Amino acid sequence: MISLLKSIGSGKEYPLNDVRFTSEDGELLDVVHDFEAIKQKYKISKEYFFTKRALINGQPSGGVWHFKELVLPTIAESEIVSKQEGNTRLYRSKKIASWLGLKHEKFFLKHEGENPTGSFKDRGMTVAITMAKVLQQRAVTCASTGNTSASLAAYASEAELTGIVLIPKGNVAVGKISQALAYGTKTLVVNGDFDDCMRLIREAQEKLSAYPLNSINPFRLEGQKTIMWEILLQLNWHVPDWFVFPGGNLGNTSAFGKALFEAHQLGLIDRMPRFAVIQAEGASPFYKAYKNNFSELKKEKADTIATAIKIGDPVNYFKAVRALKWTNGIVESVTDEEILEAKAIVDAAGIGAEPASCATVAGVKKLTASGEIKPKDTIVGILTGNILKDPQVIVDYHFKSNSAHANPPVDVQPTIDEIKKFL
Ligand code: F0G
Repeated sequence: MISLLKSIGSGKEYPLNDVRFTSEDGELLDVVHDFEAIKQKYKISKEYFFTKRALINGQPSGGVWHFKELVLPTIAESEIVSKQEGNTRLYRSKKIASWLGLKHEKFFLKHEGENPTGSFKDRGMTVAITMAKVLQQRAVTCASTGNTSASLAAYASEAELTGIVLIPKGNVAVGKISQALAYGTKTLVVNGDFDDCMRLIREAQEKLSAYPLNSINPFRLEGQKTIMWEILLQLNWHVPDWFVFPGGNLGNTSAFGKALFEAHQLGLIDRMPRFAVIQAEGASPFYKAYKNNFSELKKEKADTIATAIKIGDPVNYFKAVRALKWTNGIVESVTDEEILEAKAIVDAAGIGAEPASCATVAGVKKLTASGEIKPKDTIVGILTGNILKDPQVIVDYHFKSNSAHANPPVDVQPTIDEIKKFL
C-alpha cells in the first residue's frame, strides 16, 4: 500500500481508511507514504516541483496540492475540497530586520495569515476535510482557540458537512469567532479552557463518532507539511539555518519536522535546518519540558494575551519532541510584553500579524540577543495568523500611553488647519 497510518512509537500499522487518531495503546499516528514507489512513479526531484504545473479540478493550484504526491498520493482529484490554500508570500523587511539587528537579506517571514481564512490552519483543513469526505463522515468537530474553528467552518460549508466547534469562553479573538458564526457552523462556547474543549472533542470522537479536525488528526499535519516545502521552493531549495515559529498544540512543530525529515529522505535537501519553537511564558509546558531534557510534560493552566497559543496540555507533544530531535531544535519562551512589542514592529512594517504569530519575531529577538542565532545565519520566521484576527489587542495597545510604539488616533475639527498640523 502506498500510504497508511503508523503509530509513532510501536510502529503498528493501520489502513488509511481506518477512522482512528491513536493506536490501541494511545500513541499518535503518522500518515506514512511509500516514498520509493512514489519517487519511481513521479520521478520526484527538485526540478520536478519547479516545472510541475499542478491543476486541481482544472484550476491552477500551487500551494498545498502542488505537493499532492507527497501528501495524499492515492486520493482522486475529484475528491479534493480546496480553496487554493498556500502560495503565501515570503517577505523581507528592512525595518523588522534592523530592529532585530539582522541583515535583511538573511531574514524572511512566511505569512501564513494570507491563507483563505487568514491562518495556516487552511493548509491542514483542506487535507483533513477531504479525508472526512472520503471516509464518509457526517459531522466534523474541533476544539479551538479560534483559527481552527474559523477554518473548519469555511471548509465544512464548502464540503456540505455538519460542523460543530468548541471554543473556550472569553478567550477567542473577535475576528475568529466572527468567522465561525458567519460561515455558519454551530459554535459551542464552553465554560472552560482550550484543554477542556480538546478533552471533549476526543471524547466526542470515541462516544459520538464525531470526526475531529484538530491537529490530532494526522491528515491535518500532512497539509501543514507543505509550509516547509513551499518555503524551500521559494528559496530555490536552499536550506536556511533556522526556522522559527510559535508553539501551542504543537501541530506545526510536528508537521514541519516530518516535512524536513521526508525532504531529506527524498534527497530534496542535504542537511537539516534547526528549529526554534517559541512559546508564550504563561503557556509554556513545552519550553519547561525542553529545559528538563523532555523527561516529562507537566500540564499547566495557560495564560497569555496571545490567545491562539493559550494551551497548557499540547496533544502533539511526542511528535514535537521527535521533530526537535530531528532538527537539533530549541524551545524559547517570551513574555506578553515582548510579544506585544514585536507585534508593534511587525505591524508598523506594513506586514502585520496576530499576537501569537509575533511570538516568532519576539523569539528571534531574544535568540539573537543571547547569541544563539548568529548574524551570519539565514532565518525564516513563520507568521501564523492575519493581523485582522485580533483587532482588540491592537486598539488596546495603541490607546495605552505607556505602549512603546503607540500610534493613537487624534480627534480633530473639520478644518484644513487641523490637518496641516500633522503634515
Ligand atoms: N499561531 C496561531 C495563529 C494559531 O492559531 C495557533 C494554533 C498556533 C500558532 C499554534 O500552532 O497548535 O500547531 O502549535 N491555534 C489552534 C486553534 C490551537 O485552535 O486555532 P500549533
